[in-house]
Amino acid sequence: MSTYGSFPGTRPRRLRSTPVMRRMVAETRLHPADLILPAFVREGVSEPVPIAAMPGVVQHTRDTLKKAAAEAVEAGVSGIMLFGVPEEEKKDAAGTTGTDPDGILQVALRDVRAEVGDELLVMSDLCLDEFTDHGHCGVLDAQGRVDNDATLERYAEMAQVQADAGAHVVGPSGMMDGQIGVVRDALDQIGREDVAVLAYTVKYASAFYGPFREAVGSSLKGDRKTYQQDSANAREAIRELALDLEEGADMVMVKPAGPYLDILAKVAEAADVPVAAYQISGEYSMIEAAAEKGWIDRDRAILESLTGIKRAGARNILTYWATEVARTLR
Ligand code: PBG
Repeated sequence: MSTYGSFPGTRPRRLRSTPVMRRMVAETRLHPADLILPAFVREGVSEPVPIAAMPGVVQHTRDTLKKAAAEAVEAGVSGIMLFGVPEEEKKDAAGTTGTDPDGILQVALRDVRAEVGDELLVMSDLCLDEFTDHGHCGVLDAQGRVDNDATLERYAEMAQVQADAGAHVVGPSGMMDGQIGVVRDALDQIGREDVAVLAYTVKYASAFYGPFREAVGSSLKGDRKTYQQDSANAREAIRELALDLEEGADMVMVKPAGPYLDILAKVAEAADVPVAAYQISGEYSMIEAAAEKGWIDRDRAILESLTGIKRAGARNILTYWATEVARTLR
């Protein structure tokens, strides 16, 4: 560093001096096309149901879901990830309504596809937890443990039913071993080589899923620690990545996003496919709650959180703010 007397000769502040200067040198830019909107649709309701733990997010009716999808298209968002919330009495141990062609998720996939065609990527969460009465992501064995291989058979059927209902992309999120290979095979078997698989590759057992449990009316007691990853571990993220790529994942995801930016950076470095990150319910609710109390600037905090996720290496981000943020970026 050169100096003139006691003054600095190198002045990084020059490149921060005005908005247009900062904009020009920005290394990370958010774009509407980066974003994917997760959305909930609830069976048997005529009005959207607010989710108390996620202010601003609702369980949609079939009609308001179509509207939300149309608004996402308008804002330039790339995709919508659908979660179904069935009527309570339709839940059972096997999650049967998750593979029923007339189950709420399949109905919603058809509705949204009819609404948006190919202008928005229609994606489906491929997991049993919304549909089982015990709330686990798979079926249970006689001892009450989540039975990996029996669950894979359910996932294969789910993939086929979701593809039939119009999903462009399926997102297996249950963290069963072998799920990506089984889903890929199941799709290929029915001639649906065109349907892409967005693998929830690296998914940690996280306290930040808390508000999501309300969002889908989950019946889960206990936790998912025998199948989701331990937050202490980074190596197994790379192992999960290798497995999912070998099994045919088209895109891979890291979840949650904010508390796992180191993992996201490692996965982005190692992956040769697009990497997505899911800014989950708890990440959303923390910012909304702090903003509601007047403790942080909501809009700045939202953009900063998303910029951080993209800077860490995400190509795409699932965020409940997708439509709102896409509008402000336009
Ligand atoms: C599983 C699934 C979950 C989320 C997305 N897919 C719940 C879980 O694994 O416990 C969480 C999303 C969020 O918290 O926003 N179907």
